[in-house]
Amino acid sequence: MLQIQDLSVAYGHRPIIRNLSAGPLLPGRVVSLLGPNGSGKSTLLKAMAGLLKVARGQVLLDGQDLTKLSFERRAQRVVYLPQSLPAAVHLRVFESVMVAARASDLDPHAQDASPQRILEVLGRLGIEHLAMHYLDQLSGGQKQLVGLAQALIRTPRLLLLDEPLSALDLNYQCHVMDLLAQETREHGLTTLIVLHDLNIALQRSDEALLIREGALVGHGRPDQVVTAESLAAVYQVDARVETCSRGLSHVLIDGLCAPAS
Ligand SMILES: Nc1ncnc2c1ncn2[C@@H]1O[C@H](COP(=O)(O)OP(=O)(O)OP(=O)(O)O)[C@@H](O)[C@H]1O
Ligand SMILES: [Mg+2]
Repeated sequence: MLQIQDLSVAYGHRPIIRNLSAGPLLPGRVVSLLGPNGSGKSTLLKAMAGLLKVARGQVLLDGQDLTKLSFERRAQRVVYLPQSLPAAVHLRVFESVMVAARASDLDPHAQDASPQRILEVLGRLGIEHLAMHYLDQLSGGQKQLVGLAQALIRTPRLLLLDEPLSALDLNYQCHVMDLLAQETREHGLTTLIVLHDLNIALQRSDEALLIREGALVGHGRPDQVVTAESLAAVYQVDARVETCSRGLSHVLIDGLCAPAS
């Protein structure tokens, strides 16, 4: 179970995340983290991953404050996939996933980085055929899928994914969301995923967090969080949210977007 308590994060003297509390987020659920550009989504994820110093507050995972853990202990429990694509190093995909599996591994028996397991994870992502390709010779979307393989091989308790679909085509976006849901349920992970596509958030996440200017302004079922009112207030767009006969909600943009302020 994940609980964020009164979290504040600043860059120098500039506060970004302001007294943010959220949770509990339960294991086995995919939670989308939504908000406009610059609202603090990446900052929040980086702070939770221990890459930024927290000014105050706590991030409790099963009662343990992640902000107080050593890098090694946190890395065993938390995996963070940054918004930028993985570095284009001259390493084969297969090797890069093996390195990732071992990166958080203090106990050599804790992680199974066998060739079969690596191929299985690549296969589940639909990129088994890229195993012997070099990372620096992949397309943007292929690199993003390898980044996901590197994250999933580590079977963390908390999976923090920053816009993991940004370079993927429509088919892979759906496939990856389905796979994340499956992995999250099977292994009891807590998965927090930054999305800009509100329709994917509506249709493929179990709950949603909405932030604006570093503060939480919505948490609940995606269709309770992504509403015409919240889209107008937070994104300044004039939109409708409709539910089709199959019970899936989607956003329809009515008018022109207001100019960015
Ligand atoms: N390294 C940094 N130093 C100083 N300010 C930063 C730094 N990184 C981000 N910021 C600022 O913090 C604010 C939040 O940035 P953040 O990257 O968390 O936004 P975001 O919600 O992830 O946006 P996006 O949807 O564009 O990725 C922005 O105003 C940004 O300019
Ligand atoms: Mg970001």
